[in-house]
Amino acid sequence: MAPDATIDLARAAPGVPEDVLAAALAEAAPALASHAHTPGYHPYGLPGLRAAVAERFTRRGLPTVPEQILITSGAQHALTLVLGLLCGPGERSVVESPSYPNALEALRRARMRTVPVPVTEDGWDIAALVSALGRAAPRLTYLIPDFHNPTGLLMPAPDRARVLHAAAGSGTWLVVDETLAELALDVPAPTPFAACGAPGETGQVITVGSMSKSHWGGLRIGWLRAPARLVTELAGQRIVTDVGGSVVDQLLALALLSRGPELPGARLRRLREQRAALTGALAAHFPAWTWRQPPGGLSLWVDLGEPVAPDLAARAREHGVRIEAGSCFAADPGVFEQRLRMPFTLPPDTLREAVRRMASAAADRLPPAGTDRGPRWVV
Ligand SMILES: Cc1ncc(COP(=O)(O)O)c(C=O)c1O
Repeated sequence: MAPDATIDLARAAPGVPEDVLAAALAEAAPALASHAHTPGYHPYGLPGLRAAVAERFTRRGLPTVPEQILITSGAQHALTLVLGLLCGPGERSVVESPSYPNALEALRRARMRTVPVPVTEDGWDIAALVSALGRAAPRLTYLIPDFHNPTGLLMPAPDRARVLHAAAGSGTWLVVDETLAELALDVPAPTPFAACGAPGETGQVITVGSMSKSHWGGLRIGWLRAPARLVTELAGQRIVTDVGGSVVDQLLALALLSRGPELPGARLRRLREQRAALTGALAAHFPAWTWRQPPGGLSLWVDLGEPVAPDLAARAREHGVRIEAGSCFAADPGVFEQRLRMPFTLPPDTLREAVRRMASAAADRLPPAGTDRGPRWVV
């Protein structure tokens, strides 16, 4: 890293080892020949990739057939397809607060009314969630139960069953975002959420997944799992948005998935090392800050003890660290100003340098300069 290069802590997204990508590309290239003479449009996704994703769900404990899978250009694309098909302005959506900012923004842009339910350091307020499902009659509920972004928390199995029961009773579409499911650092990887319900309670569950965090965001490959008839309708929705995804990207994704768990295993080891480097640096430079170490995921949800995160984030930018305050993850404005989400997706030395720069920023008494930063860009 160049000494004066900005360190990006706004995006919790790891890169991919070059050799892994190169090997997968070499493996995928010959398969292109069988596609070259076809139109190359696959609104549902490549049959082989749908089958591979279905097989992964089945292996993880949720029997799935390819007809239940739609391949998308990432998890965010899957969510926007669902919103476009199933939701309308003024309808209510139950969301966690904090939650993934781009999902919250997609709901806002769909002009839905969000009903936030708290996720605290102790986990989901399940009573509040169950009550919101009953009270608000939401059209859609969006949850990240696996290593939740930004807290890293994992929803316990009994809570999952309660949520599924309440969601089935309310008639809501339940979008379960499992983008981070494979990032199990200290616990076994969770079984899919939809496998935790009683028979008959999962007909309105739409599971969203992605290769962005387990492999690489640059692939732009994700999926959704839903009842086959809904997948057909969502494929229709997809045709009017981008017609279909890239065959080349999907062949590459298939090559990466066919390598089995080997890549995520190496990634998990690296993430644990990086997490240790980050927590060590934070303890050394910011002894008053606290956090609960999450069992997985890509970030720490750090409590600064006072609502200074927006100011510190602005100062940090002047010291070469890009980071967003916790308020960016809030469903309602004006909360989480005492929080920072700190990803551990960069190499240990870079993370130590980032924390050192943030300590200089915190010690800097000059007011931060106002800058026009363009659109917010967080993942
Ligand atoms: C919970 C969650 N969902 C979705 C996404 C976006 O995933 P994708 O790159 O597959 O669109 C992210 C990325 O950070 C995320 O954290």
